[in-house]
Formats: sequence, C-alpha cells, structure tokens
Amino acid sequence: MKLSYFHVADDVPSDLIAETAVVIDVLRATTTIACALNNGAEAVQTFSDLGKLKKDSSNWPASSKLLLGERGGKKIEGFDLGNSPIDVVPELVKGKRLFMSTTNGTRALERVKNSKALYTMALINRRAVAEKLIIENFSDVLILGSGWEGSYSLEDSLAAGSLASFLIEHGPDPVHIINDELNSALALWSYWKDNLLGCLHKSTHGQRLTAIGNHDEDFACCSELDKINVVPTQSDLGVIRSF
Ligand code: MLT
Repeated sequence: MKLSYFHVADDVPSDLIAETAVVIDVLRATTTIACALNNGAEAVQTFSDLGKLKKDSSNWPASSKLLLGERGGKKIEGFDLGNSPIDVVPELVKGKRLFMSTTNGTRALERVKNSKALYTMALINRRAVAEKLIIENFSDVLILGSGWEGSYSLEDSLAAGSLASFLIEHGPDPVHIINDELNSALALWSYWKDNLLGCLHKSTHGQRLTAIGNHDEDFACCSELDKINVVPTQSDLGVIRSF
C-alpha cells in the first residue's frame, strides 16, 4: 500500500483524483463527524460554502435536520450546534441529517470529494478506518489534514502518523511511505503517542480553542484513541454515512 500525506487542501495537486482519500481534522470536525454517526445521525452533509448549505438544507424537513458548524472555532449564528463532538448526543442527532460547515475540515473534504473512495478519520476512530483500508486492500491512499486557514496543524499530522503506524504494524502488505510529510508525521506519532491530550493542548488550534472558552471536554474526547468503530464514508458527493 502506498501512503502519502498532505498537510492542507491546497497542497494536493489540482489534477489529482485519489484512489482513496482519508480526511483528518482532529480538532474538531472529523471527531464530531465520527461521534455524530456513532450516535445515530442519518448522515453528515458537508459544505465549505455557507450559502450552499443554507440552500440545500432548506429543502429538508425541519424535524429531521440540524445545522451544525463554526467559524474561528465559534458556533455560527442561527445554527443549532457548533462543532463540538460532545454536543452531538443521540437524543439530538439520532435519525437526523446534519448539515455541517467548518473553517477548515469541510474545505479539505471538498478538495478530495471526487476521490474514488473517501473516508474521514480522527484519533477516536483511527483503528476502524485503518482496518477498513486493510480489508479493502487499497493500493494508494492519500491522507489529507485540514490545518488552519492554509497552514500546518500538529494534531492532524499526529493522527496521520497514527494511521500510518497502524498500517505498518497490522497491514498485510508492505507500506510504502511516499513523502516526507508522512515520515515527519510518523516521527511526531512516536514522540507524542503516550500524551495525546498534551499534544492537542500544545497545538496552535488547541491554544485557540482554550483562548475562546473552556473546551476541556472537547480535548478529552478528541484525544481518545480507537474508542469508536465507525467508518465515516462518502456515499454521495458531500454526504458522509457510517458503514
Ligand atoms: C475546522 O474545521 O477548522 C475545525 O474543526 C475548527 C473547530 O475546532 O471547530
């Protein structure tokens, strides 16, 4: 299996259509997607553009949808929920379509939406996604971080390293690390793997979240490794379901 990692959406060559893509936004979009699907959401439909989200969601019955999203880490005015994984509880999300837009995570998803297979991953569902990649026997996997407004993020690289490390250890075939971004992510994983919470707090986006309010429960949730078994999978363009 060939594995490569790109820090942010704009690093992915514009003409590239990946065989398989895994999008990561540990703080917090892909953790929230994993938790929402694990708690019974019908699907999470993602948008980088807020106008399009409002238009598409308006065709959906009010009783079976929630609008969810943030800008700069803060809930979008008029939306039902922000982007906290601890808010997407079963009582709220079960059976509902979540229309979601976030500062960076949904932009990364948009960039690779034409991939033949597309998954989202965070630390909380790392093992489930890794096992899916192994079972499907994919030969070429592009891992894409979300970063922050075009720049590198520590926590997404940590999770990319955690995925590569699992595949190297448990995958049936040799894993070929294609770029130095992923070699660095593996080194980062070795360094922080026993202190995931510490790494999230150290990251610049972790510090941004701390500066705008108490996010202790979010940090605790986002730093859990292999806790849930969902494999968030794009089923239709922009629509992510659990399989
Ligand atoms: C994003 O998409 O940039 C993040 O998920 C931001 C956040 O922490 O809500």
